[in-house]
Amino acid sequence: MTKQEIIAYLKGEDEKGLFARSSALRKEIFGTKIYIRGLIELSNICHCDCLYCGIRASNKSVERYSLDLEPIRAAAKWCTENGWYSVVVQSGELTNSAFTNKITEVVKIIKEESDNKIAITLSCGEQTPEVYKEWREAGADRYLLRIESSNQELFRKIHPSEISFTKRETALNTLPPLGYQTGTGVMIGLPGQTIEDLAGDLLYLSQPQFAMCGMGPYIEHSDTPLSQIPSLYTKEERVKLTLRMIALLRILRPKNNIASSTALGTLSPEARIFAMEIGANVIMPNITPKQLRGNYSLYEGKISDLDLDCFIRSGFRF
Ligand code: 5AD
Repeated sequence: MTKQEIIAYLKGEDEKGLFARSSALRKEIFGTKIYIRGLIELSNICHCDCLYCGIRASNKSVERYSLDLEPIRAAAKWCTENGWYSVVVQSGELTNSAFTNKITEVVKIIKEESDNKIAITLSCGEQTPEVYKEWREAGADRYLLRIESSNQELFRKIHPSEISFTKRETALNTLPPLGYQTGTGVMIGLPGQTIEDLAGDLLYLSQPQFAMCGMGPYIEHSDTPLSQIPSLYTKEERVKLTLRMIALLRILRPKNNIASSTALGTLSPEARIFAMEIGANVIMPNITPKQLRGNYSLYEGKISDLDLDCFIRSGFRF
């Protein structure tokens, strides 16, 4: 597919035809199966000050937490007992050794508690090759690190100067050779982001080194500087764009793992189910201890409960 064709589809041309094609591929490759990954939000302590993110370092109104190892052990036990053999450990980003060692411990505990049955995806930000190697050797299987936007100019505008596109790409390139199944993703509807940018994002996400993708609508958080700048798209338009992005990526990369994101479910629970029909195959229900979920507030209204039955009622199985 050419960039021009992608742009036309993103603008809504022949949406029916697009969804028919992506749904057929989804069915052919995954049938009615949905891959579940239990999401553990390990800590909201973050040294990054990303201009869009509610848990940015300079947001003083967030109550910070970091899970102890015991709740992690309990979550791994629960997953094993319930046959959820895949978890994602996501965290605010730190690079000190207390943090990196803790992640190593967390990985070991999950493997131990599940008799090596649980596959682990880490989503703990930019780290050195040595740290990625240590986590991989401890047992981590996959790594998610979003590029956020493939437009370097836009990337620069939404991040503080110490976070650079080049460093992000360097980190991303380190992962596949270490044996990680690697995923990336973008936000959809960022202030200043155009359809051309989103088409560029799709070409970026469809590079062969990426086997997974998590992408979802950008949602304002009032404690962030970016929320002061309006997006070019309403929330409804961001939902539509997200669905088209997922359908297009399914066509560009038929076998990739593509998530139907929490951000999409936050703006529209129905769209989160529909995303499964037209291309997505992964869902990440939150399994963080309930009393802490409200503090991982990346954006406003972020949902933390997911009714899995609604997928079954729509004809899917886990
Ligand atoms: N809206 C939507 N997604 C966001 N993220 C962070 N802040 C927001 C926001 N305001 C996403 C980023 C990050 C992931 C963990 O959450 O893409 O990589």
